[in-house]
Amino acid sequence: MKRILLILLCVAGASAHGQKYPDLAMTPPMGWNSWNKFQGRISEQVIREAAQAMATNGMKDAGYTYINLDDLWHGPRDAQGFITANPKKFPSGMKALSDYVHSLGLKIGIYSDAGAKTCGGMPGSRGHEYQDAYMYAQWGMDYLKYDWCGAEDLNARGAYTTMRDALHAAGRPMVFSLCEWGNNQPWLWAANVGDLWRTTGDIYAHFDGNLDHGSYAEHGVLQILDLQKPLRKYAGPGHWNDPDMLEVGNGMSVSEDRAHFSMWCMLAAPLISGNDLPHMKKQTLDILANKDVIAIDQDALGVEGFVYQTNVNVEVWFKPLADEQWAVCFLNRGTTPQQVTFDWKKEAVSDPEVSKRDAHFDTVTYSIRNVWTAADAGTTDQALSAEVPGHDVLLLRLSKK
Ligand code: GLA
Repeated sequence: MKRILLILLCVAGASAHGQKYPDLAMTPPMGWNSWNKFQGRISEQVIREAAQAMATNGMKDAGYTYINLDDLWHGPRDAQGFITANPKKFPSGMKALSDYVHSLGLKIGIYSDAGAKTCGGMPGSRGHEYQDAYMYAQWGMDYLKYDWCGAEDLNARGAYTTMRDALHAAGRPMVFSLCEWGNNQPWLWAANVGDLWRTTGDIYAHFDGNLDHGSYAEHGVLQILDLQKPLRKYAGPGHWNDPDMLEVGNGMSVSEDRAHFSMWCMLAAPLISGNDLPHMKKQTLDILANKDVIAIDQDALGVEGFVYQTNVNVEVWFKPLADEQWAVCFLNRGTTPQQVTFDWKKEAVSDPEVSKRDAHFDTVTYSIRNVWTAADAGTTDQALSAEVPGHDVLLLRLSKK
């Protein structure tokens, strides 16, 4: 009897202690998701074309890995309660689709919801968590985004832990992406439940402003950015704040797209593109696939940036990087160009709260690289003087000389 009790306790303990696959996202996940561009127009053709584009256009080389299906892929549940794919949208079935994506050297993700229905009204996983996780594993899925519509009466930590345990039981490693919009402060409890958690409501392709829909609002880039500022201490390798997917290429100006992408990298955010990959302009690809900018996001230290200083409309962000380097981003939140000067030696930049690093500009000289233009930009011995266009950034990497 005692032995049985001990075994039961051990089994319970294993899940209570957290992740079975703790190292699936040691750097922020990178990929693509169907929602921002395609919403209900998701289909196997859309997914296959996105995967093919990613595999061949330089994005895969730059680190993008996941091709993620979002809402509205579903068919009905079968007589035993197992979920099926919509046969019109996915005539070849999910296993064939995942085999195709894997054949390109990429990974594939799927979407569900903790409630009885997804936000798009499809069957949710409530009461079917273990069946659904089993089916995703059978299909060869590598990533699950798990939404929160119709789940208001559930305990968030409990509901997400149930799905985590179902994924563990299904036996296939899957990145687990929590999407309850920050309603239940997942940064306080989700590090051992999932690999990333949404911190806000949905983004839309707009730089500055919210779009009010009455019962909910969509947020612009700057509004989401501001909501991340108090959360940086909760993120790190294996457990990331998720300020939502990218809107690069979905209608903002090139400078706004560049600023959006830069700031997501300064936040060590998951880089999940959300545009039409096969048909994007070169200027969009040049942003999404810039390896030097991505390297700031994917830096091994895994520390989010912080605002050091604000001058009129320009915020000066610092992000500690591995090897005692720093990324620095001058973000112009205004619409008109602003002149910036920054006399490094007179500034005392330190991060006592998270990385416990100090830049020591008074005693250490750093060489400066302009990351977007890929040009050397002097050293921290000289004061910086530059003009930052409206809704744009000046992004620098500092390395010790
Ligand atoms: C919610 C999520 C979005 C998207 C939609 C799909 O709004 O936050 O990212 O998945 O549902 O219906």
